[in-house]
Amino acid sequence: MQVIETVREMRSCRAALDGSVGLVPTMGFLHEGHLSLVRTASAECDHVVVSIFVNPTQFGADEDLGSYPRDTDRDLRLLADRHVRAVFAPTLEEMYPPGDVGVFVDPGLTAKLLEGAARPGHFRGVATVVAKLFNIVQPESAYFGRKDAQQLVVIRTFADALKFPVRVVGLPIVREPDGLAMSSRNVYLTADERRAAPTVHRALQAAAHLFELGERRADRLRAKVAEVLAAESMILPEYVSVANPGTLHELECVGDEGALLSLAARLGRARLIDNVTLGDPDWDE
Ligand code: PAJ
Repeated sequence: MQVIETVREMRSCRAALDGSVGLVPTMGFLHEGHLSLVRTASAECDHVVVSIFVNPTQFGADEDLGSYPRDTDRDLRLLADRHVRAVFAPTLEEMYPPGDVGVFVDPGLTAKLLEGAARPGHFRGVATVVAKLFNIVQPESAYFGRKDAQQLVVIRTFADALKFPVRVVGLPIVREPDGLAMSSRNVYLTADERRAAPTVHRALQAAAHLFELGERRADRLRAKVAEVLAAESMILPEYVSVANPGTLHELECVGDEGALLSLAARLGRARLIDNVTLGDPDWDE
C-alpha cells in the first residue's frame, strides 16, 4: 500500500495501473462504515484507492473543521492488508493551490435542500473536492455510503451532468449494535449523549413501522419521528423529511417510488444525520 501526498505522484501511480480502479473518498478517522466501502470496492475493482482529506471548503465558518477528528496513522493501520493499492492523503496546498481560489463546482438544485439549506455551501465544497478527486484518480467506480444519502444524490447528479465517466456506487449504512449510524463525529458525544443517541434511529424505525402498517401520509410519518425524538430531551431535531429519493422534494404522500425519510438533530456538540428508506426506492438510478 503506497501512501501518496502529491497530485503528481497520484497521477503517475494511476497511469501505471492496469485494470479497473475503485475510489473510496473519505475524511479519515475511519470506522466500519468506511471499511465496508473499501471491502466492496476491492471485491468489484482490480485496484482500490482510498483518499483521506479533511476538505475545508465543505465546512461552514461556525462548524467543526478545527476539531474534526484526525488520526492518519491509525487509518493507515486499518487500511493495511485490505488490498488497497494506494492511500491518497494530500495536503491542503495540493488540493487547493492559491491559484484555485474561487473556482468551485455548482452542484445544482438538489444541493439546496435539507442539508444544503442547513449548511449553505456544504455541497459546493463536497462537489468540488469530489470532482478534483475524480480527475486526479480517474476511477471507473467511486463508492459512497447512504448514511449521507443527500450527498450521494448530489454527487450522482453533478457527475452525470458534467459527464464524469465514473460509476457512482451507493452502499448501505453501517450501524453500531444499538442502531446508531457509525460516524467519525460520534466521538463528540459524551457518555450520556451516547446513551441517548440510538433514539435517532429508533424514531426513524418507528415511522418505518407505521409505513409498513400502511401509513402513506408524510405529515403523519414525520409526526411519528418527532414524537419519538421528543421523549429524549437532549436531542434537538433540526428537520425531519419525507422526500422523493431522486429529487429530494418533500412529499405529501409516499407513492410507488418510495421515499427517503431523513433527519438531522443536535445532540450536545454533535450534529447527527440519519435516514431510512420507505418502500423500495431504486438507489442505483
Ligand atoms: P466521510 O464522512 O469521511 O465519509 C466517507 C464516506 O463514508 C461517505 O461516502 C460516507 O457516506 C461513508 N460513510 C460514513 N459513515 C458511514 C456509515 N455508517 N455507513 C456507511 N457509509 C458511511 O462523506 C465524506 O467523508 C466527505 O463529504 C467526502 C465525500 C469524502 C468529500 O469530502
